[in-house]
Amino acid sequence: MQYFVTTEALATQKSDCIAVAVFEQGQLSPSAKTLNELSNNAINRVIERGDISGKAGQTVLLHELAGINAPRVLLVGCGKHDNTTENDFNTAVTTMTKVLNESGASSATSCLAEVTINTRTTEWKVRQTMITAGSALYKYTQTKSNVKPPELPLEKIGFLAQDNVQDIEKAAQAGLAIAKGMDLARELGNLPGNICTPRYLANQAIEIGQKFASVTTTILDEAEMEALGMGSLLSVSRGSREPARLITMSYQGAGDARPVVLVGKGLTFDAGGISLKPSQGMDEMKYDMCGSASVFGTISAIAELNLPINVIGVVPSSENMPDGDANKPGDIVTSMAGKTIEILNTDAEGRLILCDALTYSERFNPEIVIDIATLTGAVIVALGRQATGLMANNQALADDLLKAGNDSYDRTWQLPLWDDYQQQLDSNFADIANVGGKEAGSVTAACFLARFTEKFTWAHLDIAGTAWNSGKDKGATGRPVPLLVQYLLNRIADKS
Ligand code: BES
Ligand code: MN
Ligand code: ZN
Repeated sequence: MQYFVTTEALATQKSDCIAVAVFEQGQLSPSAKTLNELSNNAINRVIERGDISGKAGQTVLLHELAGINAPRVLLVGCGKHDNTTENDFNTAVTTMTKVLNESGASSATSCLAEVTINTRTTEWKVRQTMITAGSALYKYTQTKSNVKPPELPLEKIGFLAQDNVQDIEKAAQAGLAIAKGMDLARELGNLPGNICTPRYLANQAIEIGQKFASVTTTILDEAEMEALGMGSLLSVSRGSREPARLITMSYQGAGDARPVVLVGKGLTFDAGGISLKPSQGMDEMKYDMCGSASVFGTISAIAELNLPINVIGVVPSSENMPDGDANKPGDIVTSMAGKTIEILNTDAEGRLILCDALTYSERFNPEIVIDIATLTGAVIVALGRQATGLMANNQALADDLLKAGNDSYDRTWQLPLWDDYQQQLDSNFADIANVGGKEAGSVTAACFLARFTEKFTWAHLDIAGTAWNSGKDKGATGRPVPLLVQYLLNRIADKS
């Protein structure tokens, strides 16, 4: 998908379609009004006949209106006049994009950014259009035969500008980079565990390093991790025939500034290990690497945008399988930090690979560390698929992430990380247990990680709910790429 920005009048737009907003009481957006006047009330007549009520997501495609150069006009319902919600807007853009993709129009001018959404700017709506349109066009095809793409797909979305061409262009460009990062994250999340292995993820990282001169990728194998003392991470991998990898992608856009380190859980299939998961829905545990996928997507997006910041992605990647050599409940392993861990449940493996990756991150002298992980089923019980769970050892960082979530509409919600919960991890036989009982499962998982992040400012994002849709639309969502890119954009803006 590409974009263009135009200052051409509506009557003489050269694109294959103009999309305009109409609202629930039959009101017209400014552009819809203009087209209505140019075409001798053609739009009002369609509304009066009742073909569209303005509800978000409705569309009517009109052809060859008199007085308008573009051969098509698409009316798009955007909800309440002067009060379109973010969800209405996303619904409207999604249907608009899908209809256009099947309509024969390969370019379209979208005037939807002129709708009123309480505090959102035009730039926000332009960027959101690119992100949402990109998501609407994403289709998983890699392992299907005979997929037929539409004959005349939508290739370009245009935005109207006046004296703000550069601002609109910047917004569209950011949206496009985020959309591409989400596509990458979704593709990796959707790939099956027999293809998307730790070595496959390592190759992806190498490819990103080859694509962008600003990104340097290094891969550690099991022997190198052994030498570093990563006994916790390696204990998870021992139960699998696929060798583990520790992937580091370093994006350098700001000289020798201290980096933001993003640590992404890259568990390419989570069977639970000896604490085997029930078979119902176990296929979905291929998405247990979506934390790492969001790190890949974010690094790609910021490299594409050449952002002036240093970001290092660290991805511990392994399978979690039952095997004669697998971790057993009661086993005690020694982490890279030197802390011993009693593995009471081998299915709580995410924290076991993350703790060593977090300790490893210390060597980058990070300003901030954020880990992103499909860590607990409990976060889905607490927050559903709407919000990412957020916990942090620093409230200013938590506030920044909450704000970035609101700004990007890829939202998070904070859970407490009080010391009061730490005692649930007490072990009779080791320094710490890897599970904290059935209460507050997401919090105790974060409490475990907190024991390994005392040396830096850190936040944890539990994306078990938000990275994946179950049911009819089963598949990866690309979240939280928008949140992470927004966080980095805000950071750059705050510093300049
Ligand atoms: N990968 C899972 C968490 C998960 C569950 C992600 C459902 C997505 C959907 C994680 O490794 C896990 O198994 N966590 C356990 C922890 C428990 C054993 C303390 C869980 O949530 O059940
Ligand atoms: Mn597990
Ligand atoms: Zn897992």
